[in-house]
Amino acid sequence: MLVSPSANRVYARTASALTVAEVGVLAETVLPGRLADPRIEEIAGIGYVTFAGDLDDAARAQVANVSTALALFEREGDLLRPVVLRRLDCLDDDLLTILKYQGKTNELFTKLLLNVTVLASGSAGRMLSDRLHVLDPLCGRGTTLNQALMYGWHAAGVDVDERDVEAYAAFLPRWLKDKRLKHTAGTSRLRRDGRTLGRRFDAELAVDKAAWAAGDTMTVSVAQADTLETPTIFRSGSVDVVVTDAPYGVQHGSRSGGALHRSPLDLLAAAVPGWATVLRPGGAIGIAVNVRTSPRADTCALLADSGLEPVDTPAYRGFEHRVDQAIERDIVVATKPE
Ligand SMILES: C[S@@+](CC[C@H](N)C(=O)[O-])C[C@H]1O[C@@H](n2cnc3c(N)ncnc32)[C@H](O)[C@@H]1O
Repeated sequence: MLVSPSANRVYARTASALTVAEVGVLAETVLPGRLADPRIEEIAGIGYVTFAGDLDDAARAQVANVSTALALFEREGDLLRPVVLRRLDCLDDDLLTILKYQGKTNELFTKLLLNVTVLASGSAGRMLSDRLHVLDPLCGRGTTLNQALMYGWHAAGVDVDERDVEAYAAFLPRWLKDKRLKHTAGTSRLRRDGRTLGRRFDAELAVDKAAWAAGDTMTVSVAQADTLETPTIFRSGSVDVVVTDAPYGVQHGSRSGGALHRSPLDLLAAAVPGWATVLRPGGAIGIAVNVRTSPRADTCALLADSGLEPVDTPAYRGFEHRVDQAIERDIVVATKPE
């Protein structure tokens, strides 16, 4: 596998190591015994991630969605034969790249986080065929939501910051119009038990006219509210995965406004029980954390306190990487027992 050069810009020298870990997750989950020994190898002066595998079409389709995969080759002696990558992607990729803002989670990293969370869940076997339901309960301006839509899945999000929700509610309908995709979109008041919590944005879209006519659509709903309200906004047991990039306790934590003042770990401790409620049995939760403010062991412990089972296999322990001086990022995944 040739790793996308843009991944090197995101992860500096660790892009290949993260790809090895992601391929390792495939080997541990949906492709056991089919794919083995992922590692970094230099071929004619270029770094590749190589692995042993005898892949049928379904297995190739799974490998095609690896977040950093630029190209895949089959080795025949000294020769590399290109393998067609049939990705899940069903929308133009500028959906993920147009919005640029401070605090945006990198889109490749978001795809990695979504992939490895789904792969840990009971829905892994359906990811190539069904429209899964993804919730990002700290969704910002919607990188996770857009990646879910890119895969043809349903997306839901919560963020307390009005500017973020407004920016997303302005961006998505404009993008859909530009692409001439059939859709409906609108904002309304978010009310619970007679009180106004904030606003919500809802949209429905289809990849083409025929899909729209057939009612084969994706939905996206974003609530502007404190994430602690998540279980009052979304039905319990309604999502396949919860995927989120938690505040790092660096720039996001320093924003003014009450709900943003909690420490990253305190926020997770308060919010995870509610997030776990919305998750369906067999579902998985994947959280990106800054281990300097939310150590891996503490994050696993609070997931376990909510009745979830942290996934701590070798592949899932391979995602820690440096973002900058203040941020050492890791991915923590846990599943909800069936
Ligand atoms: C790391 S950012 C997520 C960025 C997002 N993945 C994106 O690419 O736009 C964390 C988000 O958590 C939100 N947040 C922090 N505390 C919150 C709370 N108590 N309830 C809801 N959202 C909160 C912040 O507004 C911020 O958008």
